[in-house]
Amino acid sequence: MPHTIEETPLEVAGPEPLGRVTAEEGRLLARLDRKRLPQHIAVIMDGNGRWAKKRHLPRIAGHRAGVSSARMVIETCARLNIEALTLYAFSVENWRRPKAEIDFLMQLLREYLRKELPVIHKNKIRLVVIGRQEELPQAVQRDIEEAMHLTAGNKGMNLAVALNYGGRAELVDAVNGILAEKRENGAGSKPVDEETISRHLYTANLPDPDLLIRTSGEMRVSNFLLWQIAYAEIYVTETLWPDFNRASLLEALLDFQRRERRYGGLGEEEASPTARAVGD
Ligand code: FPP
Repeated sequence: MPHTIEETPLEVAGPEPLGRVTAEEGRLLARLDRKRLPQHIAVIMDGNGRWAKKRHLPRIAGHRAGVSSARMVIETCARLNIEALTLYAFSVENWRRPKAEIDFLMQLLREYLRKELPVIHKNKIRLVVIGRQEELPQAVQRDIEEAMHLTAGNKGMNLAVALNYGGRAELVDAVNGILAEKRENGAGSKPVDEETISRHLYTANLPDPDLLIRTSGEMRVSNFLLWQIAYAEIYVTETLWPDFNRASLLEALLDFQRRERRYGGLGEEEASPTARAVGD
């Protein structure tokens, strides 16, 4: 087991949001400004295979260990009152993997939902799956629908699991959705603008991610949330996904808080000479 988070229950709130913490987590938490957390964290969970290989284990052992990290991130973000978390669990490109590995990943997801759905629901998390669900195995589709239906009215954290997801496929689906809407509304409808596109994405009801985390060191976006990450801060760590623990997540949040977000404008110092004089 890469870490021991599973020993602590999810239902903890109040002044000690993370419940019992290690000394390292406590130090990191003390430096974190809980009023300046990202609204939406998106995660590319990479490195399960390499983690397994290093231990002379089959790749599927890496995926199983990866579920434990996913659970920890879900739990920690929910406790920190993060508004939305999106996890990249299976891409449209992942169908190129051996069938046995694909079957295992689908089983793992079903197992996760079976075990965790009551806890997710109890903690008011709203679960959505983003991606081309209609191409997933029937049993997976059924489990997903049940989970989304059960948690649809929850008002806590939005947990989006990207499954059979591709950023380009999402944009194609959005364009087709817009065309269908235009056919229905007839001539004279408004021109397409950014708001129209955002409204037709799988993530229509979520804020855009302001932090994108990628584990295992690759400097790629891998067809993930291409439209939505336009202004996201990107944090890449060498840590392999199964080794990504609560301290790793807190490190990523602290790094996010050190960044200056300018959205194409000027930083505080250049924008206000007085602020610079006073600040210096
Ligand atoms: C990449 O590792 C990871 C995946 C293909 C996703 C699998 C994710 C999990 C098992 C976490 C489960 C998530 C939920 C929501 C329950 P890789 O196989 O590409 O690793 P490698 O690059 O080292 O080969």
